[in-house]
This record gives sequence, C-alpha cells and structure tokens, in this order.
Amino acid sequence: MSRLLGRMVVGTMPLMPRFVIKWVSRRYVAGTKISEAVAVMKKLSDEGACFTVDVLGEEITNLDEAEFFIKEYNDLIEAIIAEDIDANISIKPTAFGLLIDREKGLQNIQELLVKAKESDIFVRLDMEDHRATDDTIEVCLAMHEKGLTNIGVVLQGRLFRTLEDIRNICNKLGPAADFRICKGIYLEPDNIAHTQYRPIIDATNECLDLMLQSSSYVGIATHDIPVIKHALASLEKQKMGPTLDDPRENPPVKRRGKGPGYEFQMLLGVRGDLRRKLHKDGHRTRIYIPYGERWYEYSMRRLRENPTVAWHVAKTFLMPWKNRR
Ligand code: FDA
Repeated sequence: MSRLLGRMVVGTMPLMPRFVIKWVSRRYVAGTKISEAVAVMKKLSDEGACFTVDVLGEEITNLDEAEFFIKEYNDLIEAIIAEDIDANISIKPTAFGLLIDREKGLQNIQELLVKAKESDIFVRLDMEDHRATDDTIEVCLAMHEKGLTNIGVVLQGRLFRTLEDIRNICNKLGPAADFRICKGIYLEPDNIAHTQYRPIIDATNECLDLMLQSSSYVGIATHDIPVIKHALASLEKQKMGPTLDDPRENPPVKRRGKGPGYEFQMLLGVRGDLRRKLHKDGHRTRIYIPYGERWYEYSMRRLRENPTVAWHVAKTFLMPWKNRR
C-alpha cells in the first residue's frame, strides 16, 4: 500500500513547484550553506547527538566539478573545528571523480583525507549503487595502506556480497576497520541483492553480527525497529553497551568522537523520538546531516530510487504537526 502511494507521489512530484519540494525536504535537508548546517547541529547537540555531514551531490560528469566538493568539504572541516562541533564527514566517492578517472578521483579523496586527518576528523565513504562498490572499498583499503586510517566504508545488507566484503576488509584492516552498516537505499537487481523486506532485514542483521564479532567499529544506520532490536540483543550478547568498555579481545582503534565499539546512526528528520530514546538509554547516536545547493536533485533522485521514501515525505506533508526533526 505504502509502495503504491509512494509511486503515486513520485509520479506527481516533478509537476510540483520547487518551493513545495523545498518545504517538504526542509525536514531532511539542513539548508544550502555550511552556516545553516552548523546551526542545525548546534540545536541538535542539545539532544546529545553527534553528527556526520554530507555535502549534497553525487556522480559528477566532469572532473572540474570535483573542485567544488574539495573546497566545500575543506571549508566544512574548518567550520566543524572553529565551532567545536562533535562531527565527522561523509563523502560520495563519485563526487570526487572516481568513476570518471580513477587515479584523479583517488588523488582528490586523498587530498581531503589529509586535511581531515590534520584536524582528527573521520571520513565516511557513503556507498552508492553496485557500480561503485568495488572502487569504494578499494579507495578505503588504498588510503589505509598509505597510512591515512581516518576512513571507513558503508556496506549494504541487501547485497549478497556483503558478508564476504566484511571478512575481506576485516582481514586486511583488523581493528582499524570501521563500518557503517545499513540496508542499502538503491533498488538493486535480484541477481545481486535481496529485494524483499524480510530477507533484507535478516541479511542486514547477519552482517551486523559479523561486524560485532570481529574487531571492527560498527555504525548501526537504521530507523527500523526489527534491526534496532536485533542490534540491542546482539550488543548484549557481546557484552557491549553504554558505560561498558568494549570487551572484544582486539577492540577497534580509538578515534575521536566514537562510542564504545559501536554507535547508532539516523538520518536528519527521521524518527527523532527513537534516536532520543536510544540516547537516553546511554547509546551514542549520530545524525546524518545533508546540506547543499543540490537539495532538489538529491531529493528527487532519492525519491525515484526508492519510492517508499516518498510515502514518508507525503506523510510529512499531510501531517506537518509531526514535523519535528
Ligand atoms: P525502513 O525504510 O524500513 O524504515 C523504518 C521506519 O523508519 C519506517 O517505517 C518509517 O517509520 C521510518 N522512516 C524511514 N525513512 C523515513 C523517512 N525518510 N522519513 C520519515 N520516516 C522514515 N544507504 C546506502 O545505500 N548508502 C549509504 O551510504 C547510506 N547511508 C546511510 C546513513 C545513515 C545514517 C542512515 C540512517 C541510512 C543510510 N542509508 C544509506 C540508507 C539505508 O540504506 C536505508 O535505505 C534507510 O535507512 C531506510 O532503511 P531503514 O533501515 O531505516 O528502514
């Protein structure tokens, strides 16, 4: 039902005026400028959250466009430090030119990573669709080999390959491995990915368990109760949790702003009540903060990729009183 409604909303959204889309996406996007993202983070810091910040925009069509992202992320790092915000950054490798010119893309990411390392800021490589999976993992491993260890990848529970990717990355990086696990936003074909709700949840939970059993740091990125419940049970089984030191034999490398071996992560504007409850129970909670001029393209692309998100957007539109971030 929600899928059908989602498709209907997606169908009509390109016809809606931009200001309507902007109004709807206001809850999920922290504005167009660094100063607006900073203001949102300062406000949400009072709720005990920390952050990862994403400059909106994805695959670029020519390498010059990468310059924009390098400069914007540099300015963002400076603002995070100047404003003393508990935040790291999330980047999309394709925005740095990885799929246009691999070498140049790597160079661009390395340049940013060096800058982030100087300020002790962690860089998360968001995971895009399956065309970028191998390259994204390789970027992470290549940077670690160069001694730039302030970087980790996102893996997607829905992909069949993910358990194998976790084993490979853990073998190579040991306690320096730092993951975000999510279901995966991209609707991938059924020869490489689970496509139904329950199998996606089961696969994501299995990946989460494997990460927790290894020496890696785990960012648990979901708003879905069955995954959160499973994560809480898994943490208990591992004797991990708030106020507990990570009991694993070879615990993950300590990094600025990280929790005791794990943290929960949620998107700006989604299930704030649940995030606040997790924080109240003592868990480290991180909010993903997207901002930037490309909010329109981002919102529309996300909606096309996964129409169920449109249903949530429609609910926001129809029930604005529920619009608390
Ligand atoms: P699900 O979609 O089932 O949502 C559970 C419930 O949460 C819904 O029933 C609804 O109540 C609420 N909800 C979810 N989305 C909502 C919305 N937009 N508005 C209002 N309510 C909403 N994916 C990827 O492929 N690569 C990546 O790098 C990332 N990075 C990432 C970072 C972070 C911090 C998060 C939380 C998620 C991602 N994702 C991602 C997206 C992820 O893969 C997944 O598509 C979404 O989180 C939705 O899946 P859930 O597990 O939240 O469950």
